[in-house]
Amino acid sequence: MTNHILTAVFSAGGSTRKVGKAISDIFCTDFYEILPREPYTAADLNWLSKKSRSSVEMNDPSARPEIAENTLDISSYDTIIIGYPIWWGLAPRIIETFLESHDFSGKRIIPFCTSGGSGIGRSDMELHKNVSPDVIWEKGVQINRPNEKTIRKQLGSVLQQQSDNIGH
Ligand SMILES: Cc1cc2nc3c(=O)[nH]c(=O)nc-3n(C[C@H](O)[C@H](O)[C@H](O)COP(=O)(O)O)c2cc1C
Repeated sequence: MTNHILTAVFSAGGSTRKVGKAISDIFCTDFYEILPREPYTAADLNWLSKKSRSSVEMNDPSARPEIAENTLDISSYDTIIIGYPIWWGLAPRIIETFLESHDFSGKRIIPFCTSGGSGIGRSDMELHKNVSPDVIWEKGVQINRPNEKTIRKQLGSVLQQQSDNIGH
């Protein structure tokens, strides 16, 4: 099972990266960080300003910030766990860039988020619109801390289901 799962995260401040790394360690998955071509500065992340880069991007559903290096080959993975911080109730637009950059047909996607308090809300359902209908899209979960017990509770059963389905 373990070689077929990828944990891919975008993290501007490090929290989602920490949780993603813990998920990757606990379930022995590969790990990939979605890095923006243009890194987000503190000013870019200022949610108090309508003019900050993050506000402008989140107000524009067609914004697709570029990924620094997009040579990732996902063909060998059955399951991709995708982690992101909640921005204005949604996933940062770069997650849509990522979803549109690869062919996820027939694969299973499990979204997770970190946040300042909001749940995953409709962020995962909005992302679901970016992939082809034959993607197996699992309900997303919020995991705010790299705590093994929480991670096993939130993701253990869905990953077990995957391994049962593919007969590993
Ligand atoms: C632009 C921006 C918008 C945010 N919007 C929300 C929000 O709507 N709800 C929430 O609970 N947290 C919100 N947050 C907080 C982040 O989701 C939270 O701090 C997250 O864990 C950051 O993850 P990271 O360190 O991996 O970037 C926002 C943060 C930023 C920078």
